[in-house]
Amino acid sequence: MGSENNKHVVSFFDPAFEPLSIDRGEMLSEVLDASNSPLLFGCRTGICGTCVIEVEGELPEADDEEKELLEIYAPDNPKARLACQIELNSDLRVRPLNFE
Ligand code: FES
Repeated sequence: MGSENNKHVVSFFDPAFEPLSIDRGEMLSEVLDASNSPLLFGCRTGICGTCVIEVEGELPEADDEEKELLEIYAPDNPKARLACQIELNSDLRVRPLNFE
């Protein structure tokens, strides 16, 4: 799995969903929906916690507001992030945590 041009690959632990090639810099919340991914979004502004996912890949550190929410929804999971706050800058493998 590699990056080509200005695209990155977002793949899913759930084999029912095909990996997606997405432009660098896109917000995941703008390109993913229930038809192309297992991820769910609610507020899309980092408040509701609907979009908590586990991520494999490189991401910048979460800001303080995101960290606060992750401490509530996914304590002790260092791979947890809010999907709606992710701007794509590397290949990622993700799965929703709200289905566990
Ligand atoms: S969709 Fe509400 S926190 Fe991400």
